[in-house]
Amino acid sequence: GRVLHVVGTRPNFVKAAPVVAALRATGHDQVLVHTGQHYDERMSHIFFRELGLPAPDTDLGVGSGSQARQTADLLVALETELLARAPALVVVYGDVNSTLAAALAAAKLGIPVAHVEAGLRSFDMAMPEEVNRRLVDQLAELLFATSPEAVGHLAREGVDPGRVHLVGNPMIDTLLTHLDHFDPAAARAAHALPERYGVVTLHRPANVDDPEAAAAAARALTEAAGHLDLAVPLHPRGREALRKAGLADAPGIHLLEPLGYVEFMGLVRGAAAVITDSGGVQEETTVLGVPCLTLRTTTERPVTVTHGTNRLVRHGELVPALRKVLDGQPAAGPEGPPLWDGKAGPRIARVLTEWLERHD
Ligand code: UD1
Ligand code: UDP
Repeated sequence: GRVLHVVGTRPNFVKAAPVVAALRATGHDQVLVHTGQHYDERMSHIFFRELGLPAPDTDLGVGSGSQARQTADLLVALETELLARAPALVVVYGDVNSTLAAALAAAKLGIPVAHVEAGLRSFDMAMPEEVNRRLVDQLAELLFATSPEAVGHLAREGVDPGRVHLVGNPMIDTLLTHLDHFDPAAARAAHALPERYGVVTLHRPANVDDPEAAAAAARALTEAAGHLDLAVPLHPRGREALRKAGLADAPGIHLLEPLGYVEFMGLVRGAAAVITDSGGVQEETTVLGVPCLTLRTTTERPVTVTHGTNRLVRHGELVPALRKVLDGQPAAGPEGPPLWDGKAGPRIARVLTEWLERHD
């Protein structure tokens, strides 16, 4: 049977690349559908080139909109696509609106769904991603988890344990595949950064959509830049809001376009500290042993905190936390959490292949 992967956003591309590659190695019939949720060159195309993802078989070009509008447009476009491609199985990644729409469209057509990165929970239903995660995990036939906590969440929500597979973290497969190309000195030189610098990414609605939150973030970052030069590649969502809130190219603040994966990870690898609200970046810093300060009140990735690299901070706590990091020892060794070993893609491919053989 045919496998159809649905991707739509920057983090989806990073997670799908190793799964698509591992299935390709088995010679399986697979189709890659891009929903077009992300569409800028620097949010989309650059990742296909860098990560060796095949060009999508279709780009649905759905684009941006409110939560309901975007999800509805995705649902309609995906239904047509699934009917035309008639896959045996649909694979979805992470927790974005494209993930939910694909899982729902498939489930309504009676097509089984596999969810990569199942079982993560922030327990904060104000996050659109938490809504997506919970619903997708109820719809999925096969659930691939990155950590034992995730397996526990699924068990407590009544998901049949026979469907759940602890396989590790495909985002870390991608990281380890490209690690030798992450060149801090080159990335630093390209952006005129000093030897000691930090990297900042912010794009969560809770930090950038509300003007008061954006102002608090801008203030905290401007003060932090007094202690450490900050490279700030801005996601399009936060760009206008953070600038309006007062984040400007000031001494110590280097506002950048969104970066390609290899250049971004080059900067992260060499950073004295990372400040973020990203999900993926909390995991990447964990494996690279780079201290990470997460500007959020919750995380769906607690293993990054218990591992020792990540800490949740409020805006007012950022500068003291940063100073502590800069004065202290490296956060943790290079060993990542169990199964974050670069082999999640092949493990997922094996489970998918066995499932397909049983259901052919
Ligand atoms: C989405 C995901 C989020 C994920 C993030 C990764 C949902 C609910 N959110 O958030 O979980 O962390 O992707 O980056 O799915 N825009 C552009 N160019 C683009 C894409 C977006 O300018 O190529 C702008 C548009 O103004 C758009 C806004 O960014 O309205 C938000 O884009 P959207 O895809 O709706 O959500 P993200 O904030 O990117
Ligand atoms: N990333 C990138 N360039 C950037 C910012 C992020 O390549 O300028 C990568 C980052 O390494 C991570 C992925 O994009 O692997 C996920 O990004 P994002 O923070 O957008 O999504 P989230 O993980 O929060 O859903």
